[in-house]
Amino acid sequence: MTFNLNIEKARETGFCFGVRRAIEILEKAAREHGNVETLGAVVHNEQVMQRLAKLGITAANSVDEIQGKVVAISSHGVSPEIEAELKQRGITIVDTTCPLVRRAQTTARKLTESGFSVIVYGDAQHPEVKGILGWTDNKGLATLDAERIPASLLSSPRLGVLSQTTQIPEHFAQFTGKLAESSLTDAEIRIVDTICRDVKERQAVSLELAKKVDLMLVVGGRSSANTKRLAELCSVAAETHQIETAEEIDPSWLRDVRRVGVTSGTSTAAETVEAVLKKLKAVKV
Ligand code: F3S
Repeated sequence: MTFNLNIEKARETGFCFGVRRAIEILEKAAREHGNVETLGAVVHNEQVMQRLAKLGITAANSVDEIQGKVVAISSHGVSPEIEAELKQRGITIVDTTCPLVRRAQTTARKLTESGFSVIVYGDAQHPEVKGILGWTDNKGLATLDAERIPASLLSSPRLGVLSQTTQIPEHFAQFTGKLAESSLTDAEIRIVDTICRDVKERQAVSLELAKKVDLMLVVGGRSSANTKRLAELCSVAAETHQIETAEEIDPSWLRDVRRVGVTSGTSTAAETVEAVLKKLKAVKV
């Protein structure tokens, strides 16, 4: 006897407001200017980048690779130095920085100006984090491991801590807790929660769903930080696989599975999620 899989989609999937906004700004810029180059991938999603390429929107990996005169800053934002360099080269900037990333940048700048040594809880290699560090006059430190914070920083009398927008709130709280324990002085520690509300909401609904199913599929780009976090979170409650497209579903994952949950990162198009659901619906177990 065969059964249809019981498939449930998380309440929130597809683009977050920041990515939707960035794509709208870019499409408008492409209509106005023809070709537009983006500094780095405007969103960390291969399928979205391919669709934008058809509209004349291409990615340059660095300022030196820029060929044209219209450049878009991605939703992850950039440092003030890069903004200044683009302006100095006479380039027209199309700014798609997400307002919530801008808030993290502004927080970093205000803390620095108020004399705090800034620590960013985040992946130091991620473009968003590199950009935020630029707003600390490059004096800040980014890390995911409180034990790696050097003693010179731990002896600072004023420590300001914020987070990459896509991190898991509970992990950020553990990080700040450890930091407070390891501070070497009676430091004033100011913690600002800069985790994105869309990310928090998506993490909460995805975890809720993961608790009810046998298998979770998290749809999103392999280089997408928030998709990775989502998969990490769901794997605590159910077997979880991160996939970019429906084609990556391995039938062996569905053996002995009755209930499947589907969620997505914030830079995943709704159509990609729909294609995954369609493929799952066709499976008989
Ligand atoms: Fe912005 Fe949050 Fe999306 S920071 S780009 S709304 S994941």
